[in-house]
Amino acid sequence: MKAFIINKYNKKGSLQYADMPIPKLKDNDILVEVHAAGINLLDSKIKSGEFKLILPYKLPLILGHDAAGVVVQAGKNVKKFKIGDQVYARPADHRIGTFAEFIAIDEKDAALKPKNISMEEAASIPLAALTAWQVLIERAQIKAGQKVFIQAGSGGVGTLAIQLAKHLGAVAASTTSAKNFDLLKDLGTDIVIDYQNSDFENILSDYDVVLNSQDQKTLEKSLKILKPGGKLISISGPPTPDFAKEIGTPWFIKIILSLVSSGIRKKARNKNVEYSFLFMKADGQQLSKITALIEADIIKPVIDKIFPFDKTNEALSYVESGRAKGKVVVKIK
Ligand SMILES: NC(=O)c1ccc[n+]([C@@H]2O[C@H](COP(=O)([O-])OP(=O)(O)OC[C@H]3O[C@@H](n4cnc5c(N)ncnc54)[C@H](OP(=O)(O)O)[C@@H]3O)[C@@H](O)[C@H]2O)c1
Repeated sequence: MKAFIINKYNKKGSLQYADMPIPKLKDNDILVEVHAAGINLLDSKIKSGEFKLILPYKLPLILGHDAAGVVVQAGKNVKKFKIGDQVYARPADHRIGTFAEFIAIDEKDAALKPKNISMEEAASIPLAALTAWQVLIERAQIKAGQKVFIQAGSGGVGTLAIQLAKHLGAVAASTTSAKNFDLLKDLGTDIVIDYQNSDFENILSDYDVVLNSQDQKTLEKSLKILKPGGKLISISGPPTPDFAKEIGTPWFIKIILSLVSSGIRKKARNKNVEYSFLFMKADGQQLSKITALIEADIIKPVIDKIFPFDKTNEALSYVESGRAKGKVVVKIK
């Protein structure tokens, strides 16, 4: 089958278009013929080697973390799906590889694709929507009336997190540049701040939760807007020793993460704010709940561009530019 792979960690280089074997099925796996794959910055971070300490991969590696497609084969223990089902998934770490014609996915990581959206729209959902779900519902346990600040509301995670926060009854504030104001208003954002011309830390106060997806400076400024007891949840780092424990890293990585996060952990403690790092996980059950929200028109995909499969490198470069408005997808079939 055709696939886009990396042979070595490389910041600047392109993915290679290669012939790879169709993945072998384990007993709990479904083989999915991939119709569309979503692009994520995580693909770029894995390609550059930035993640190799906490997520070491054997190379060559087929990249890609989001897929929508059709089940064409099922392992002998598979119960949830049958051949011909339309599904979507964020396959688990160490089982990625959606930039390919086929992928084997553990059935527990997949869900039926929402019936009311296209394959390309479905491929834009899993990683970003699961991230929003795991931050806002699992970790923050947002309740109606709480105030949540979602940075970069026009991004892949932001567009979905705003819709989920509004569904949960929260007050949602977000940042973007002026050209994306209408999009954020359409998504239901209560307060939209132009990050290029204003400082959110001088506008927002007494927030319950911040979803941080930007740099260290933004992370530190976010502390100022939280009320005592508030939660600062970062998806862009720095990772903490608790995270090292959660994923079972060797002791020396725990020490490294303890050092890189000590500053923000201390500042958060001094403000009586809870700082944590979250790295999203594959979860087919949560994805089924997201399917229901999409089918009820509560959450809508936001797609910026769809590229043909042979332009996967261009799609990745576009996402790396940091200007994507919603998600970027490659159409494979
Ligand atoms: N830990 C996890 O599990 C996890 C999961 C998903 C994503 N992430 C990370 O979260 C970050 C965001 O991911 P993403 O996929 O949502 O990104 P993305 O889609 O590439 O974000 C692009 C958007 O960000 C906006 N933006 C850029 N700089 C901004 C700033 N300083 N303030 C406000 N908005 C800004 C841009 O708007 P303008 O064009 O108007 O600037 C653009 O619409 C990445 O670092 C990614 O790796 C982590």
